[in-house]
Amino acid sequence: MKLFIDTANLEAIKRVADLGLLDGVTTNPTLVSREKMPADKLYDEIAKVCSGPVNVEAVNQDADGIVKEARDFHKRAPNFVTKVPCFEEGLKAVRRLADEGITTNMTLVFSPAQAILVAKAGAGYCSPFIGRLDDISHTGMDLIEDIVTIYENYDYDAEVVVASVRHPLHVVEAARIGADVVTVPPAVIDKLVKHPLTDVGMKKFLDDYAKIPKG
Ligand code: E4P
Repeated sequence: MKLFIDTANLEAIKRVADLGLLDGVTTNPTLVSREKMPADKLYDEIAKVCSGPVNVEAVNQDADGIVKEARDFHKRAPNFVTKVPCFEEGLKAVRRLADEGITTNMTLVFSPAQAILVAKAGAGYCSPFIGRLDDISHTGMDLIEDIVTIYENYDYDAEVVVASVRHPLHVVEAARIGADVVTVPPAVIDKLVKHPLTDVGMKKFLDDYAKIPKG
């Protein structure tokens, strides 16, 4: 399972890159708005740190506009992947971009029905938002299970990106189900690393090491 970081914060992206664990980055306009930098400049900085897919969101609302935005991103850096919301104009744009060989990530996916259309439109990635479903008392992870099964049934090419991740169990469940990618906010990455028994164990080993007579 590939690990993407779900942030537009350069420092957080660099930290995961330094760990050697960075397979890609996902951003969205909300995340970019927190960084107080022009979006294009920020995207270019992120692309310098991450050689994997850097997902940047289209903001046009019509297919022609989305296609133009995605072509522009693609020209600027081949690893930019344009995120396109799952709505009619978005599906049209994704089909046209796929025919041109430009990879897209369909975002804001909340149902298996949408995920089928995403795959058929030719998107490279499909991003179901599980945390936002959990927030309204639906089990987001059930959606991942359904989409993974459907994509396997028909050997669809789109990779399933588990998005809107809120805690480490989302990551573990995504892996158990066999999702292709999980995109994780920095705070959850910290929680994946930490375990109190590791801390206690390391302290005890260091304390005991200090008791060994020095030769
Ligand atoms: C994914 O690409 C999105 O940026 C993200 O996962 C949205 O998560 P949220 O529901 O925490 O805003």
